Amino acid sequence: MPLYKATIAATASYLPEKVVTNHDLTKTLDTSHEWIFDRSGISSRHIAADDEPASAMGIKAVRKLLEKHPINPADIDLIIVPTSTPDMVFPATACIIQSAIGATNAGVFDLSAACSGYVFSINTAAVFIESGKYKNVLVVATEKYSTILNWQDRSTAFLFGDAANATLLTRAEEGHGIIAMHGGTDGGKPELLCIPAGGSKNPVTAETVKNRMSTVHMKGGDVYKNAVPRFTETIEAVIAKAGLRKEDIALIIPHQANIRIIKTVAKELGMSADKFMVNLEHYANTSSASIGLALEEALAAGRIRTGDYVVLSAFGAGFSWGSTLIRW
Ligand code: UT7
Repeated sequence: MPLYKATIAATASYLPEKVVTNHDLTKTLDTSHEWIFDRSGISSRHIAADDEPASAMGIKAVRKLLEKHPINPADIDLIIVPTSTPDMVFPATACIIQSAIGATNAGVFDLSAACSGYVFSINTAAVFIESGKYKNVLVVATEKYSTILNWQDRSTAFLFGDAANATLLTRAEEGHGIIAMHGGTDGGKPELLCIPAGGSKNPVTAETVKNRMSTVHMKGGDVYKNAVPRFTETIEAVIAKAGLRKEDIALIIPHQANIRIIKTVAKELGMSADKFMVNLEHYANTSSASIGLALEEALAAGRIRTGDYVVLSAFGAGFSWGSTLIRW
């Protein structure tokens, strides 16, 4: 039995100023607003400035969080930064964020799980809190996909956006907090969604640069076909692990990749699409930042009340997938 329960104390997001609409993309890509919107539900995305790396966005999200929920940065025990777009391969982007926010007593690390990064980080943070080892854990999901996209590839360029979210986890009060978690992986076909070069398998060479191998490569249809059953499986699993029924769930906050995936998952689960938080229209897929963004909006819109059962659920490259069930 865990010593404590963990919960989300506060969450805050940062979106870069620049907005790029689907119409803007038609100036350089053979595409249309109608195609993108019909196939994905996306109409625009935010793009970070050239001098705004992932760490800078993450730091801005943390500053907003600390305004909302003041805590002495020295009391943060651990910082986890899920990101696919770290400032550098090393040191971890978490180190740069730690120094900027003055979290002088925090251990830190980056977590690599692509779009599943937020849920995996929340679950990891929760286990540290449950064990009694740490009290305050900060998750800073920050993504600058604009730097890893091939802007000439119409099948991927429209899908992603830049954003950051900071979420603070702490000990829960009696009767509240994270009550179940679930995770899964199938690493059999990493090539279906990957960045082929820039790692130790294909180091950067003039050839890899010429072939744009350091950008996102995705077989969209295959990813879609895996996303639907995996989302369905992980949401069902986490609800079962908590000993609850689907009817008990007030809100599901899924990773925001495609409105069609979310609607199909709702149908597969036999749940109303109204129970799924969706906000991807103006942000696109912000990878590990998307669930935090949607959670903050759901809270601001009054869609989560004290005592509600809320599921966070993700699917991404790997393939990897997972969920968290929280009693708010
Ligand atoms: O974050 C987690 C990981 N990512 C995802 O979950 C993404 C999962 N995949 C998807 O959401 C969808 O596969 C996409 C939205 C990316 C694409 O939708 P789709 O319905 O699977 O389209 P498709 O790739 O099968 O392409 C259909 C057609 C193709 O033409 P043909 O071969 O039928 O003549 C494409 O060439 O649409 C064409 N196409 C486009 N047309 C206009 C592809 N991209 C575009 C475009 N504009 N941007």
